Amino acid sequence: MSRNPGQTSQSPDAAHEAEAVLSFAGVSMRYGRAPETLRDISFSLAPGSFHFLTGPSGAGKSSLLKLIYLAARPSRGLISLFGQDLAVLPRQQLPHLRRRIGVVFQEFRLLDHLSAFDNAALPLRIAGKPAKTYKDDVAELLAWVGLGSRLHAMPATLSGGEKQRLAIARAVVGRPDILLADEPTGNVDQEMALRILRLFLELNRQGTTVLIASHDHDLVARSGMPELRLEQGRMFAPEAA
Ligand SMILES: Nc1ncnc2c1ncn2[C@@H]1O[C@H](COP(=O)(O)OP(=O)(O)OP(=O)(O)O)[C@@H](O)[C@H]1O
Ligand SMILES: [Mg+2]
Repeated sequence: MSRNPGQTSQSPDAAHEAEAVLSFAGVSMRYGRAPETLRDISFSLAPGSFHFLTGPSGAGKSSLLKLIYLAARPSRGLISLFGQDLAVLPRQQLPHLRRRIGVVFQEFRLLDHLSAFDNAALPLRIAGKPAKTYKDDVAELLAWVGLGSRLHAMPATLSGGEKQRLAIARAVVGRPDILLADEPTGNVDQEMALRILRLFLELNRQGTTVLIASHDHDLVARSGMPELRLEQGRMFAPEAA
């Protein structure tokens, strides 16, 4: 089966749209009565693609991710995820759709009353998997992100970078169909940032479609992956290769 990392389209035709994991067509979004935060955005992500979402602070990166993980709704336009139009999605299908999306939130959103291990294992527990089937995998993943000795630590006792790495482990542990990460290397050093990039690339190699909001120009350049650029709520996709 062939995948096409990097494939994107700013004006998807019907055939492309049908096969895209995600597509935006003329999407705008506003908070309350404020001017539009996102304006007339159209793009699509092919299955197995890997993109960075870049742009200055306040450009709308987190807002765009919110639309994808269903925490906000567009004021105009169409969003389709896994071939389903989100505007007409029955409410009872939302949990199922959300389970297919791994999210690294910019502000982590760990559960304070759960240990590092239990935070990371949460998506698997929610999916109904017995603990013995994932115990070793979760421990291995936490070791990979440098938290091997902090499995039983509570989030309040972790540093900012440790919390971020835990949030990353939780987002990837269930091998989601799409991974959204919002500034996932904002709190770690360069060596750890490259390690995290390798984790994302490996997940992508296994089929996950990846979209990462990042300010880290060095990381974007090193990855060799294409950029979708937001500026003042408008999107500029790279020129077609
Ligand atoms: N909950 C909110 N209510 C009202 N306005 C908001 C809200 N969240 C974001 N905004 C506004 O929307 C715009 C885009 O914000 P957003 O957080 O999407 O930017 P960003 O590109 O993620 O920035 P950063 O790089 O700083 O994380 C900003 O002007 C911001 O003030
Ligand atoms: Mg943001």
